[in-house]
Parts: sequence; C-alpha cells; structure tokens
Amino acid sequence: MTPSDATPNADAPPPEPPADGDPARRIAWLTTVVEHHRVRYYEQDDPEIGDDAYDALFAELEALEAEHPELAAPDSPTRRVGGAPLDKLDKVRHEQPMLSLANARSGEELQGWVDRMRTHLGREGITDPDFRFVIEPKVDGLAMSLRYEDGVLVRAATRGDGEVGEDVTHNVRTIPDVPLVVRDAPAVLEVRGEVYIALDDFRRVNERRAAAGESTFMNPRNSAAGAIRQLDPRQARQRPMSFWAYGVGVVAATAGDDAEAATEGRAGAAGTAASVGAVLGVDGHHGTLTWLRDRGFPVNDEIEVAADVDRALAICEGWGERRDRLAFEIDGVVLKLDDFELQRRLGTVGRDPRWAIAWKFPPRTAVTTLREVVWSVGKFGDLHPYAVLEPVNVSGVTVGQATLHNEEDLARKDVRPGDRVIVLRAGDVIPQVISPAPHEAERDDRADPPRPPASCPACGAPTEKPDDSVFTRCPNRGGCPGQQWQLLRHYVSRGAMDIDGLGEKQVAQLLEVGLVRTVADLYDLTVEQLLPLEGYAETSATRVVDAIARSREQPFARVLFAIGIEEVGQVTGRNLAARFGTIDRLLDAPPEQLAATPGVGDKMAGIIAGRLADPAVRELVERLRAAGVTLAQEGAGEDDPAGDLLDGVTVVLTGTLPTLTREEATTRLLARGARVTTSVSKKTGVVVAGDSAGSKLEKAERLGVPVVDEPGLLRLLEEGPAALPGDDVAG
Ligand code: IVH
Repeated sequence: MTPSDATPNADAPPPEPPADGDPARRIAWLTTVVEHHRVRYYEQDDPEIGDDAYDALFAELEALEAEHPELAAPDSPTRRVGGAPLDKLDKVRHEQPMLSLANARSGEELQGWVDRMRTHLGREGITDPDFRFVIEPKVDGLAMSLRYEDGVLVRAATRGDGEVGEDVTHNVRTIPDVPLVVRDAPAVLEVRGEVYIALDDFRRVNERRAAAGESTFMNPRNSAAGAIRQLDPRQARQRPMSFWAYGVGVVAATAGDDAEAATEGRAGAAGTAASVGAVLGVDGHHGTLTWLRDRGFPVNDEIEVAADVDRALAICEGWGERRDRLAFEIDGVVLKLDDFELQRRLGTVGRDPRWAIAWKFPPRTAVTTLREVVWSVGKFGDLHPYAVLEPVNVSGVTVGQATLHNEEDLARKDVRPGDRVIVLRAGDVIPQVISPAPHEAERDDRADPPRPPASCPACGAPTEKPDDSVFTRCPNRGGCPGQQWQLLRHYVSRGAMDIDGLGEKQVAQLLEVGLVRTVADLYDLTVEQLLPLEGYAETSATRVVDAIARSREQPFARVLFAIGIEEVGQVTGRNLAARFGTIDRLLDAPPEQLAATPGVGDKMAGIIAGRLADPAVRELVERLRAAGVTLAQEGAGEDDPAGDLLDGVTVVLTGTLPTLTREEATTRLLARGARVTTSVSKKTGVVVAGDSAGSKLEKAERLGVPVVDEPGLLRLLEEGPAALPGDDVAG
C-alpha cells in the first residue's frame, strides 16, 4: 500500500468512517483517525477522546493490518507507537563509517584549516578552489543513521564507535520529526542527523519526574542518550525526542549497489559524496540539505552558505550570540565545504573529513570550591539541595550558586563541602554542579557527605522522608514561610495568574512584613498598606493593587494551576476545568471521577483528591470565591449541580448541529461527565446527529444505538440518560 497521504491536521476533525466493510477503506480510515488522535494526545497534549476509545481504534487497526499486511500503510501510526520491549539492542555495522570532526576555537584556527585545504588541493593541481562553506548548528545530541529502503524507514542506528552502532529503530520510530516514509527516494537512502531533546521538552520531563518523586536528568543530551537506548519504546516516549537532518550517507539508485560500493571501498565519505550528487541529482552539500527538506526531513532553517572565511567566522559568532535563545542546545557550529568534488579530493585524515570542521564555543564549565550545601523548600515542602560556591566566572557570567537537583543526585555525584567541583552553566537553565574535579574524590581529608537537614531550614519543623520520593520534606504545609513564598511566587507568575508588578522579591517582602500569608490574602491588599513599604509610591502601589484585582478575571483553568495543587500543571488544570466546570463539582469529585479526566491516571487522581480534601485548600477556595476569583468555566455547565449526570455515558457527535459547534457540545457533555468519542460501537450510549450526518448515523441505527438531535442533546444535558429515547427498552 502507498503511504497514507494523511499529513495529519490534528485541528480539523477526523473524517467519517467508510459506509461499507471494505478492509482497505476501513484501514485507510483507521490510519487517518488513529494518527489524528495520536497527534492530539502525544504531540499536542490535548486529547479529544478517552484512552479506551483510542485503544479500541488502535487495536482494530492493528488487527486489520495483521489480517491484511499488504494493506498496511508503511507510515501507519501502529508503526510509530513502538511495539513490545526488546531484550537487548542489536549491533549494526555502518556500511560507511560515521565520522567525527576536528575542532577550531579561534579565527586563526579556522584560517589554518582553510590554508591546509588550499595546500592539499594545490598538490592535486587545484589552484583556485571555490570555497563555499555551509554553516550548520552543531546540535548537542546523538548522531543517528536512518536507513530507508524504497522510501520506507527500515533501520535507525546510533553512531557507536563510528564503525558499529546499535539498532534503535523501535525508539526512533516514536520521534515525530523522523519521516517513516520518503517520497521519490532512491532504492537505498541513509540520512544522517542528530537526535536531541528540545529544552522545553527537557524541562517538562524533569518537572514531571520531580513531581513524581523521581530523579531528574542533568542535561538534555544525557536524557536523550538514555531515552534512545531504552528497550521499551513506551519508556522512550516519556522523553520526547526531536531530530535534525544534516547529511546523507549511503545511497544507491538500485538495491544492492550500496553493498557493492561498500565492499569496493568506495564508501568513504569522499567516495560516496560523488554518488550522492549523482543519485539525488544535487550538486553539493547545500543542495543535499534542500533535497532532504523538500522530502519532509527537518533541516534547520538558519543554515547558511558563506563565500569566504570572514563571512563564515561572522556567522559562527552569530550562532554563539544566539546560543542561549535557541530551543535546543548547541555546542558549536559545523562548517562544511559545499562542493562535492572538492570534498572528494580532500578525503579524510584519521576519523575526520578534511573538508569539515567544528567551531567549538568556549566551555561552559569551570572549576571552583564548594563552600557548603544548603537546602531550600519547594511549593509542596520538598527540600532541594543547592551548592554555595566560591564565585567563579563561567563563560562570562559570575556564578555563586548552583543546583544539585535532589538527594539521589547529590549522593551519586558525591560532592562534599571543601571539594573542588566542576560547575556547568548551559542555556537559560540554572547553573549546576556536575561532579568533583578530577582526583578530588581521592583526597582523604574530605568532609562528610552532606545530609538533608533534620529540621526545615525555613520553619524548623522536623523533616520527613517518604519512601516513594527522592526528596526529604517539610511537613508544615501552610505554616512554613518557605512553602508560602514558593506558592505565592508561583501564583503571581506569568504562566499562572500573571500579576504584573509582583515577582518573587515583592511577594517575599509582603510575606516578611506580614501582609500576606496565602494567595487569597493578596486580594485584601490596599494601596495604603503598600505605600509605607520600600519600593512603593502612589502610582506603583495603585498599579499593583489593580493588577491583583484584574487577576480575578483569569480563567478557571489557570486558577486551578495557580493555586498550587500537587500534580495539577497547566494541562491538567485545563482538563479538570473542562471536565468539572466548577470548583464545587471538582471538590466533590471522588478519585474515580478525577481519574476519568484526560491525562489523569489513578495515582495522580489519588494525590489530587487528597489535596482537594485538605481543609486548608477548602478554606483557600472559599476566600478566593469571596474575593471574586473565577471558579467556573463558562459553557462547562456551571448551572448544573450534578456534574456526573452523564457519568459513564459514551456520546458520539456527527453532522452539523443547528446552533452548537462541535466543541461547545463536547465541552458541555464533558462537564456532565460524559465521554465523547468519535466512533460508534455497541458500547456507544447515544449518537447526536446533526445535518448531513453520514455513516455514523447509519451504524448507530444498525446497532440500535439511540440517536438524538440538538434539542435531544439539550434535554440529555438537563435530565441525564432518562431523556434518551427508548431508554426504558434498552434498559
Ligand atoms: S557532520 C562529516 N553536522 O557532531 C562529519 N555533525 O563531531 C560528520 N553533529 O557525531 C558529522 N551537528 O553527532 C555534522 N550539523 C552537524 C552536526 C554534527 C551535530 C555531531 C554529530 C557528530 C559529531 C561530530
């Protein structure tokens, strides 16, 4: 079967199922629908249907594909969401070795490289070479080889030692950037590039792990390196990886040619370069990148061509300046000669091609003395260790403090007060202590390993260490000023209530002078109270009080996130708001109902329910209610006291309704506890059919599933399942 043309637009609704039982049409439809929901769930974090519905569609597709393998699309979503875990990773010998790069760290070294190339080519009789340089980011991830046969991804392998790598196809398939199918590809095509974890994804992974009491990763590269070698692709998917393509390895116009090329020893970098040009119909490296981009490979948009060394150097420095603002880590820039013929003539020296070089950025690490390890209290009482350092300059910035993540991490690194330690400052992440400096751990006059304190550094309460967490905690919820400060600064922060003029310093001051203790106290602040405080004048005080007042209009979903409930991040806040509609329904919800919310599993539901039952949380909610903070989501049925009216009822919407959009109807149904799915089965409770409802309506009628129109839907929302036609009959 040809690749499904479903470049999924996950914002558009999936198509209607085919009316007949033809397996080809059914598979094509399932492929599109499953891919649609896969993207909504895994890539957009915004599922439209429940896990059960998704699993059912997925299982049906898998079963049909097993029955009719010839009908399975090579880029079917069943191939992305990896299969069963492996026992071990197989070794893969690279047909053409994966090379490394020599380094340059200064303009002189760069010029030296160019001079060497000129001399080498001069000996070959080329006196005035056309040096055009392609300049690419050197992404700090893992080199990857992707092999396509007849346009279908058949194998992904790590670089390993350059000769032999490991087969990680099962994990690479889960990377959304990696095309599973390539149009107009030669019989054999090996694409090379870098697998990496974007900084945002890295932060999310670490936040999630920290919240679950798991150890966090030191940097995106380590996290990606671990993820790509996972045996179970489901584990790998927990760490969302991305891919940049930067070149082509082996190519062959017809199958078999590539092996021949390799055995004949033509497959060195230079030897293959010529055939890449001929087979792909391109004239140089830049043309190759364009070829890759045109076929759906992610190729960085900011790759440039420079006509001389000065321009090349300027571009390298430009990358250095932008480095901290990129969405991913780079540790340098790669310069490659564009011209394939020159590449071929230059060849390799040892493991490095002569025609390419890495411009390395100044190191981001420095060595200094660890003065002491101190502990700070997080929003929920977790004690986080951090390092107080002899101030040191790390790539232009003085660093006096660095994070040590958590106790496990601290123990693993085994850094102790008085040690010389290596400090890393990377991107916009907090500086971190990596390890003791070489030989430091061998000293016999070292201090004892630091231990978490027996009493909370902020409030003095005796600390506890739960078995299931990597954090020791301060149990003094509500009463600990350290926790209060963290909760306040989270509440006012940008992603939460976004209160202009209040930052961590300002809330610390308010806490210190005793004007606020909880976030609800903010709403009682007056201009008169602020005026005597340092840093406030009439205008600034008024501005802050106004900004606080305005925050009452922030949507309910944000409030749920802002008030600081364990496990409730931005996405869960949104899902809970949509599912329950009002704070009261949420407060009344038993864990089973919480667990039925998209993205909330049983464990999370238990934790959230526990927090919501806390009298302090209840009191906070009442005070926020009294202050006029938004505690309901419009359209989520706030006038209905029974949010579980349609609990357990599965609803399918089809066709166009006269007044409600599909999204409004879905929101209202979710707010009543219904599950909204896209395919009709015997388990469907009711089908809501509007204009031009097609096959779903037919299927409902065939299966005897009740069908209602919009007025029927409105009755259903009012009265619950009793309003269903023939409910008495169906039982
Ligand atoms: S080309 C022909 N291009 O750097 C030389 N490598 O030290 C082969 N890397 O193992 C590599 N970005 O993991 C090349 N744009 C880029 C790169 C890049 C990152 C990594 C790659 C390789 C290492 C070479």
